[in-house]
Amino acid sequence: MTASPFLLTSKTILVTGASSGIGRQVCISAAQHGATIVLTGRNREQLEETRSKLEGTGHPVITADITSANERDELVAALPLLDGFVNCAGIVKSFPIKFLDAGRMTEMVVNFEAPALLTATLLRQKKLNRESSLVYVSSISGQHPPKGGSIYGASKAALETFVKTLARETAPQLIRANCISPGMVKTPMYEQVEAEYSKEELDKHMARYPLGVGYPDDVANAAIYLLSAASRWVTGINITLDGGFLLGDR
Ligand SMILES: NC(=O)c1ccc[n+]([C@@H]2O[C@H](COP(=O)([O-])OP(=O)(O)OC[C@H]3O[C@@H](n4cnc5c(N)ncnc54)[C@H](OP(=O)(O)O)[C@@H]3O)[C@@H](O)[C@H]2O)c1
Repeated sequence: MTASPFLLTSKTILVTGASSGIGRQVCISAAQHGATIVLTGRNREQLEETRSKLEGTGHPVITADITSANERDELVAALPLLDGFVNCAGIVKSFPIKFLDAGRMTEMVVNFEAPALLTATLLRQKKLNRESSLVYVSSISGQHPPKGGSIYGASKAALETFVKTLARETAPQLIRANCISPGMVKTPMYEQVEAEYSKEELDKHMARYPLGVGYPDDVANAAIYLLSAASRWVTGINITLDGGFLLGDR
């Protein structure tokens, strides 16, 4: 039997948002595929909980608020050489544009500016091995924003454009950069969205998913593909995972 190209054996992968939801599952699945994970997020207790679920040993936890320049610099300085990076950190906020103010704009930096600046620091500090794979979790809201989703959607659209340029600039080192855009995935973020919309609005929205709601595994499996040698010819793309939500729009 030949070795599976999806294995991540001897790869070291940095995961932001490792303390919850999609990021937690990416850590679990990547460790199951043989990777060493560097887990980061702000909540140490929850990061430790993720670490306790990982196969293998020697997965470092480094707490950092990636919106802080100092904490980003300290995080990068503490990192070993990486073969992969999965950016899952993010927040969702839903409000009509008439309620937009500078504070709401600023809190969204975690979705775009923070991962962009973190990537720049990883490149400057030469923390990425040749043939590394960089994966950014966007959202179908980046291209198909719902009412209330202006700034969240814009932050994800900005991330997607950034990743296309990144893919061009890192290709000489065979470093690949791709996005994953999920629809609704059952995580604590989903519960927050559930609380922000009426039951009627949510039922109407969920009825548009022919395959139902997504689970963190569905996203983690795509991340494994993008991190692995199975996707060595794939860069600059955005994989939509939406249970058929956008079928009518394509
Ligand atoms: N769930 C969905 O339906 C859905 C759909 C489409 C896209 N997404 C995207 O998927 C990604 C993960 O979402 P999720 O559903 O897993 O959400 P989640 O369970 O709420 O997790 C969000 C993660 O982001 C981290 N984070 C937030 N602010 C941070 C900061 N300033 N510095 C460092 N880490 C920070 C949190 O860690 P700490 O609290 O420990 O800092 C947490 O681990 C997000 O980018 C989201 O936009 C989610």
